[in-house]
This record gives sequence, C-alpha cells and structure tokens, in this order.
Amino acid sequence: MSGEAPATPNGRESAPGRSAGGFQMYRPGAAGSVPGRGTTTEGAEDAPPETLADDALLDLSTDVAGKDVEGTLARLDAELVGLANVKRRVREIAALLLIDRARQRFGLQATRPTMHMSFTGGPGTGKTTVALRMAEMLHALGYIRKPKVHTVTRDDLVGQFIGHTAPKTKEALAKAAGGVLFIDEAYYLFRPENERDYGQEVIEILLQEMESERTSLVVIFAGYPDRMDTFFSANPGLSSRVAHHIEFPDYSHGELVEIADLMVRQENFRFDDAARRAFSDYLELRMARPRFANARSVRNALDRLRLRQAKRLVELHRPVGRTDLITLTDGDVYGSSVFTETPATEGAPQ
Ligand SMILES: Nc1ncnc2c1ncn2[C@@H]1O[C@H](COP(=O)(O)OP(=O)(O)OP(=O)(O)O)[C@@H](O)[C@H]1O
Ligand SMILES: [Mg+2]
Repeated sequence: MSGEAPATPNGRESAPGRSAGGFQMYRPGAAGSVPGRGTTTEGAEDAPPETLADDALLDLSTDVAGKDVEGTLARLDAELVGLANVKRRVREIAALLLIDRARQRFGLQATRPTMHMSFTGGPGTGKTTVALRMAEMLHALGYIRKPKVHTVTRDDLVGQFIGHTAPKTKEALAKAAGGVLFIDEAYYLFRPENERDYGQEVIEILLQEMESERTSLVVIFAGYPDRMDTFFSANPGLSSRVAHHIEFPDYSHGELVEIADLMVRQENFRFDDAARRAFSDYLELRMARPRFANARSVRNALDRLRLRQAKRLVELHRPVGRTDLITLTDGDVYGSSVFTETPATEGAPQ
C-alpha cells in the first residue's frame, strides 16, 4: 500500500518531489508521441519530459488526458439529470488538475493539489455514481493510478477488539491504494458517546494516509448532510484535509420525472403519454412517503413497473409485438400500492 512505489505512467508516485511528472504522456515533438490520441497508459517512457522554456506556449487541448476528461464529463452530463453545482465542481477540479499538469511542464513547483473530498446528500442523490466518474477523471489526469472506487463502511474499518482496527483499516487502504477510497456514512466512524471507540483509531490512520504525498489515494467521505457537518466539526483535522466539499441536493419533482424518462429510455422502454402523467402522480405521492430515496426510489419503482408490465403482457394470451414489449402503460403505474394504501397503513411502498 503506502509503502510500495510502483512505476507509474505519470511518474508521480515514484517521484513525490514533483519533477515534471504528470505530463510524461504528452511530449510534444518527442519521437513517437501522438498528442491527442493516446490514453493515459501510453507514453510510459522513463525519461521525464523536457521542461518548457519560459516563453513557450502550451496548447492545453493537446494534453492527451483532455480527451478522456471531456469524455467523462460528457458522460456525467448525459447520464445525470440536474446536479448543476456538482457538475460545475467536477469541471473545476478537472481544470485545476489540467493546469497543474501544464505548470509542471514549465517546471513550476507547487504542492500537489489536495483531492480528498466529501459528498454530502440524501439517499439516492447520485453520490456513488459521481464518485465513479470522479475516479475515471482523476485517473485520466494522472492523479491516481487506477480508475477504481473501493467502497467501505464503518464495519470494514473498525475491529471488534483491541489491535484489530489498524490491520483492518490498513487492509482497506491497501485495496483502495492508487484509486479512490469511498467511505459511506463516514459519521459512524465517530462515536462521541463512547470514548474508547475504535473509530477514532481509524480516523487517525486515515489522517496520516491523507497527509502523505507519496500515495496516490483519494479519500471521499460520503453521507447525509447534517450528520456529516457534525462529524467534520468534531474532527477539524479531517475537515481541513478535505479540499472539496460537494453537496448533492434532493431532486425536485420535475427532475425525478426527467430521471424516470432517462432510465426508461436507457432500458429500451417508453412511457405512453398517460403512463408518464401517471408516473408523475406516483412520484408526488411517493415523495411524501417514508424512506423516499430520490433517484434510487425512481429506479426501484421502474423495476416494479416492469414486473407489472410483464405480468400484463403474459396474461394477454396473444402474440406480442415490439411495441407491446417496450410500452409501459398508465395501468402498469396505477398498480402501485402507493395509490391504494393510506400512508398510515403503508409499509414499504410498492
Ligand atoms: N441525477 C441523476 N440522473 C439520473 N440517474 C440518477 C441521478 N442520480 C442518481 N441516479 C441513479 O439513481 C441510482 C442511485 O444513485 P447513487 O447510487 O449514485 O446514489 P447515492 O447518493 O450513492 O445513494 P445512497 O446514499 O443511497 O448510497 C443509480 O441508479 C443512479 O444511476
Ligand atoms: Mg451510494
């Protein structure tokens, strides 16, 4: 894990003193270099790129990472409805790292930008999805070695007995090394009511790891906003090492309808007009029910909708065509228990 120093394409880990690293894959004028066409795994030559002259001009669009980053940002735009502030922050981070790479080309020394983050938001607001895209982007920009997210919760880090916590945490760090460690519901690491809680040990190990310039590990703390606020105020050391606090707001009704449309299209289904109106009604009711989980609830509702569509089609006892197979009707939507049960009698809405 943190001790290893594998040869990396960008040279950063093997050269924590920040040589011209980062940009080795882009070598204008170097034999065999094809700016704009490589991937981040290309150009793993040993020699660092020559430092540019003070009066040189660097065309940012020729950085091979740029294309991968644009691809990731485009995916983020296409697959996620709304989240304007999140998308803006992700673009800002991409720009920061791109400029950092350019500065290294000019031999401009600076500390490595900190990329530890917190994602705060309610359930189903896109935190995990954005973490995956973020990992892809950080990898494309040579900041981490692999575009992977290792997700853990308290139980993966905290041991039951004295001496068990450090090895567990270190194992998780080793698994995440070179990528992103995503700590879901991070506030469970901190139990102020229990002075001897082993969560504190985890936090201390994480702090050390997050400080280290040597590891290309990014830690993302995720969880519900109010509890995360409490967690960070109780752990100012942690908070100050988190450079990017990104908030994921709950979706509006309109956004949820759009998300449903997007998911339906992605799965090669379609709502007829009556079904779309019915689903909009469904969402209004469902949003007011307990355990509403934003886009996750939309996905679950659509799964159950498919179940009812399938049952309806099978019970037709006639040959079915393509249109039958892709169409979700208002009847399928109104089969939900949300329309029949009163909130008082309701368990998990179906
Ligand atoms: N803005 C969005 N547009 C389209 N789909 C979305 C959007 N946000 C989330 N989703 C979808 O909703 C589901 C839940 O999202 P995700 O797992 O990223 O949320 P989360 O915030 O991590 O949830 P939790 O807090 O419950 O872990 C996924 O299937 C994801 O693709
Ligand atoms: Mg999640």
